[in-house]
Order: sequence, then C-alpha cells, then structure tokens
Amino acid sequence: MQKFNNISLKKYNTFSIDCKCKQLLIVENDADIDWMFSNGIFKQKHLIIGEGSNMLFTQDYDGTVIRMGTKGMHIFNEDADYKYVKAAAGENWSDFVRFCIQNELYGAENLIAIPGLVGSSPVQNIGAYGCEVKDIIYNVEGRNIHDGSNFLLSNEACKFAYRDSIFKNELKEKCLITNVTFRLKKNASFNLSYKQLAEEMSHYSQPYSLQLVADTVEKIRQNKLPDITQIGCAGSFFKNPVVSQEKFEALHQKYENLVHYPAPTGVKLAAGQLIELCGWKEIRRGDVSVYPKQALVIVNWGNATGKEVVDYYCNIIHSVEDKFGVKIEPEVRII
Ligand code: FAD
Ligand code: EPU
Repeated sequence: MQKFNNISLKKYNTFSIDCKCKQLLIVENDADIDWMFSNGIFKQKHLIIGEGSNMLFTQDYDGTVIRMGTKGMHIFNEDADYKYVKAAAGENWSDFVRFCIQNELYGAENLIAIPGLVGSSPVQNIGAYGCEVKDIIYNVEGRNIHDGSNFLLSNEACKFAYRDSIFKNELKEKCLITNVTFRLKKNASFNLSYKQLAEEMSHYSQPYSLQLVADTVEKIRQNKLPDITQIGCAGSFFKNPVVSQEKFEALHQKYENLVHYPAPTGVKLAAGQLIELCGWKEIRRGDVSVYPKQALVIVNWGNATGKEVVDYYCNIIHSVEDKFGVKIEPEVRII
C-alpha cells in the first residue's frame, strides 16, 4: 500500500481541483484492505475514491482518502448463453470493457470510455448510449465498513435505477465494494437503441463487430465530451430531470424542440438543452464554464477552485428553475 500525508488531490480527481487531504492510502491488494480494517481506518473520517471522475472537492479533506487499486479480472463460469467475468474494484473500467471485447463477450461495448474504475460502476449505475451497467451486473461483493464482514448483493438487491443504486442510499458510506461480477452474452447481440449510435452504425455493412461498435461509441464521445487529460471536468454535472406528463406538455407548447424521452415515472428532459437555452454556453466565470459542445458538462479550464464551481453550478440550477420551473440536481458527488 502506498501512504502519503498532507498531499494534493489534484491528480486524483478529474475536475483537477487542487485541494489537500490529511492522508491518502492507495490500496493495492486484499491484504491492504485487511490492514485498513485492523488499523481502524474506517473508524476515522474517510472517503473511498476510484479515479475521482464523479466528484467535486470544495475544500481540503480533513481525513483519509482511500484510493482503490486492487487488480484482477477473469472469466470464472459460463452457462449456455452467458459467461461470467469477475473484476476487482481497482480495475480501470475501459480495460474491463476491452477484456470483454477481446473475449468476444457482448453487453459492455456501449459503455466504453466512461472514466473510472470497476468498483465505482455500480454506485451510480453508469450508463451511456442506451445501456446501463445494471444490464450486465450479476452481483456486487464487498465489506461492511462498521465490522469488516463480507456482503454479496444480487443485481436486484442493488436497487439500480437511472444514475442511482443502494450504494447512493441505504449503503452510502457503509460499504467498500471489492469485486463486481458481470454476466455477458456469448452470442452476438447489439443495443443500437440510441439514435445517434444507430445512425453512425448505419454507415457500415453488417455483421458488425464488437470492436466497431466500441470504436463508434468512442468517436461519438470524443466529439462531445472534453478530453480529461487536457480539461478538468466530471462528465455530466447534472442528472437529466424527469417531469410529469402535464408539466412536459406545458413546456412543449412553449418550446417545441424540447428533447424528451419516456421515463418510468414521467418524461425525461435533456438538462444540457435546458442549460443551453438559459444562455450558459456564453457565460465563463474565471476558469469555470460549461463545455462549448455539451452544456451539461461543467469544466475547469485550469485553476478553478471547488467553491467557484459551486457558485457556478448553483446559478445554473436557479436559472433553469426560473426559466422552465424544472429543478435539476447534481449527478456529481460534492465533497
Ligand atoms: P469516483 O468519482 O472516485 O467515486 C464515485 C462514487 O463512488 C463516490 O461516492 C465514491 O465514494 C464511490 N466509490 C468509488 N469506489 C468505491 C468502492 N470501491 N466502494 C464503495 N464506494 C466507492 N458516467 C456515466 O454514467 N456515463 C457516462 O457516459 C459518463 N461519462 C463521463 C465522461 C467524463 C469525461 C467524465 C469525467 C465522467 C463521466 N461519467 C459518466 C462519470 C464517471 O465516469 C462515473 O460516475 C464513474 O463510475 C466514476 O468512477 P470513479 O472510479 O472515478 O469514481
Ligand atoms: N443537448 C443540447 N445542448 C447541449 C447538450 C445537449 O441541446 O448543450 C441536447 C442534444 O442535442 C441531445 C440531448 O440534449 O438531443 C441529449 O444529449 P446527449 O446525447 O449528449 O446526452 P445527455 O443526455 O446530455 C447523457 C448522459 C451521459 C451519456 C450520454 C449518452 C446523463 C446525466 N448524462 O447525456 O453521461 O454519456 O447521455 O448516453 O444522463 C455522465 O453521466 O457523466 C455522462 C456523460
């Protein structure tokens, strides 16, 4: 395990916010996890992170930051239609997707290039291009923070929903996810329900390969999301809001081009469009602005502080509420 005291977290969060923590532990194996339990690390103030790609630090963290780095990925079982892949929490998410592609396993390819680690993927039920990780998660393993005991949650027990799971609710700050087992299809089957992906794929002749679908998703992503090696951000800053059918119809009368999708509890709107319509693509404050190609993403052009990003995002929330009567909420975890 690597241990650092009083260290900057700038390179441990993709927003690239320069703040410090009292202690940083980089966990490399199961023995490191046992060491943390026997040394009372979880009894003190602590924060578990992966790549810090869904977080905004607003101040120095006066506690221990635990960065997961455990490795290991293998196919451990199969039945007639599926193979089961178990991956350690510290594996890079896109490395896992590439492992599936190399082994000709179907279901993860639309989720290529989402930053972060395998262990974080169930937390907000990552999703993109018509898929969510809940579609391929078989179970989630971990340790209970209060006593170190093991748990194993089935897909259903994880209570997955749009950008939500038990890990953001009942189990928030109560568990350390150590491994995730995925169930992937052995036979070719693609999800091209996302319009832009279907359009791009229609330029190619069938049968499609897993690699082609993944490359196409990556190309679409590169065209609208910042390159986090150059520009700080945490992806979509807000969740897309769901409004009632009546509310949607009232808005639709006024804004006929309103992007909308059916959702289990109403109609989902595109927060990026609402933010753009409020004029935020024209507003930069210091080193903070929305990304010019995608207003749902707030970016740090260099030396923004967490507090400056907070001011900016609170103003966005107010302006969207004033103009549309719709409350948008951060997707990013504010620390
Ligand atoms: P972190 O940000 O480090 O942590 C996220 C949360 O998980 C925190 O609450 C943390 O405490 C908790 N956590 C992490 N590891 C563990 C563990 N082992 N046990 C318990 N809790 C843990 N998300 C999408 O869904 N779809 C997208 O298309 C997408 N695109 C993005 C594009 C960009 C450019 C960026 C920067 C982000 C994007 N995101 C997207 C958001 C982000 O990639 C995901 O939320 C990702 O899963 C976060 O992984 P992480 O390892 O960085 O987690
Ligand atoms: N739009 C605008 N202006 C903008 C941004 C978007 O008008 O500035 C419109 C687009 O034209 C499009 C619609 O809004 O019609 C939706 O845009 P997009 O396809 O880019 O998707 P999104 O809803 O903005 C969501 C996820 C992304 C995910 C993509 C692709 C959320 C909060 N975000 O974005 O996830 O990659 O769909 O599936 O659900 C993330 O969570 O960090 C993330 C990047």
